[in-house]
Amino acid sequence: MLWKGDLVQKSDVSVSPDDRGYVFGDGIYEVFRVYNGRFFEKAAHLDRLERTAHGTKLKLPWTMPELSELLDRLLEKEGTQESILYMQITRGEAPRIHQFPKDVEPVLLAYCKDYPRPVAVMENGITAVTLEDIRWLRCDLKTLNLLPNTMAKQEALDRGADDVIWHRGGTVTECSASNVMMVKDGVIRTHPANHLILHGVTRAFVLKLARQLELPALEKPFTLDELANADELFLTGTTVEVTPIVAVDGRPVGSGKPGTVTRQLQRAFAEAIALV
Ligand code: PDD
Repeated sequence: MLWKGDLVQKSDVSVSPDDRGYVFGDGIYEVFRVYNGRFFEKAAHLDRLERTAHGTKLKLPWTMPELSELLDRLLEKEGTQESILYMQITRGEAPRIHQFPKDVEPVLLAYCKDYPRPVAVMENGITAVTLEDIRWLRCDLKTLNLLPNTMAKQEALDRGADDVIWHRGGTVTECSASNVMMVKDGVIRTHPANHLILHGVTRAFVLKLARQLELPALEKPFTLDELANADELFLTGTTVEVTPIVAVDGRPVGSGKPGTVTRQLQRAFAEAIALV
């Protein structure tokens, strides 16, 4: 593991009870994807980390090239051909006060985990339930405060589905750990990248693939009614790539099978990562 700048064994990591990540969820994170033993869209993840650090006023003691180099060292030591690299940075260790403490050193933790592509799930698709999005108004910041996300995921499972599709007053936002796109009459639609969703690296990559394939794609919000009439629905995310959603709230999406646009994007994605 990478712990405070050093490569160590897990047993050498000891988290302070004063760590603000532990006490307040006061920290930020990224999940990087590794294909063929190499990072996928690393610069985009680092850009988002930098934006999140700025948005949460967390002063990073490393430049992005320095962090990038630390991640390379970790990948070399722990990475496999297909893995994810989890990294979090908390604001630091200080007695519990709400305001940001002065002169604290952010605490970095990162590790790799073997993570084969979820081929069966991408082939068959998942089911979802709709749920009101009760999160705050800075969902574009990738912070450690994921209780709404974990609660939503658990609710989906409790209701017999695989994930939630969140909406705010009927406008679809995203899912518990991925973005969501719909297809109607050949046109892809997804929520614009504003403060109400995480600006997914995979979302941006898939929109780029859509442009290359000359598939029309709009970054325009859609409603639950439009979702109910969609021909296709799919998730995008670091851990799910492009995964079809085949049923929502117990009703089939389109034919109830992954659609042709989804399949086209999956194929294009697979071709693109083979070149990573
Ligand atoms: N989650 N939306 C939310 C709420 C997310 O948590 C994620 C990613 C995404 C997709 O972003 P990207 O394509 O950059 O992975 C969208 C990560 C994987 C996680 O928390 O495990």
